[in-house]
Amino acid sequence: MRFDIITAVPDLLHGLIGYSIPKRACDKGLAEIHIHNLHEYGIGKYRQIDDYPFGGGAGMVLMAEPLSNLIEKLKLEREYQHIIYMTPDGKTLDQSLSNRLSIGGNLIIICGHYKGIDQRIRDLYVDLEVSLGDFVLSGGEIAAAALVDAIVRLLPGVLGDEESALSDSFQDGLLAPPLYTRPSEFKGLKVPDVLTSGDHPKVALWRHEQSLERTQKLRPDLLADEQAD
Ligand code: ADE
Repeated sequence: MRFDIITAVPDLLHGLIGYSIPKRACDKGLAEIHIHNLHEYGIGKYRQIDDYPFGGGAGMVLMAEPLSNLIEKLKLEREYQHIIYMTPDGKTLDQSLSNRLSIGGNLIIICGHYKGIDQRIRDLYVDLEVSLGDFVLSGGEIAAAALVDAIVRLLPGVLGDEESALSDSFQDGLLAPPLYTRPSEFKGLKVPDVLTSGDHPKVALWRHEQSLERTQKLRPDLLADEQAD
């Protein structure tokens, strides 16, 4: 699966995506992440990419032309499942959206910066807008990195142990159960006996019960969502 991320701050994305699971996915040839520097598509001698908003107001707006030129170029080269714009206006990212995107095709992801992007790019090209939540980031880069990370860890073969993505929080609509590692006692707190019993069915049952309990306590809305489905 290929990701083409469009940004005015490529260094920020290299830092966020060049490590850990996304890097492993690329090293294994299971994902390709291409970071495009919008400045290279800037207009005129000064490679301008942003301008003042028509009608006035604070902040700059990413211009339509540099974005359009880059998007058109990419679209000529291959097919894309979606052209995504990261914005607080969008659909909130959750596990089910990540799952859906991980089984589709290539993605173009546009990171806004400054105030945002020219509306005509959204009207002409963007077919999915994704938000990290009801708060405003300084740009879409952190959000794009979160989206890419959430997707690549679901691609078959990326995680060493196939089970680990399946046992993530939310993957079955529940929060993950508590985890423990050595030592078996720490500052007077002992690991639950069941986890050291070696009885795997009993461990699985305990984990499921803990997941349910945790979800009920911390995120009862998730259980309500399931009943409504
Ligand atoms: N860009 C700025 N704020 C954002 C958010 N909350 N989610 C996604 N992209 C953003």
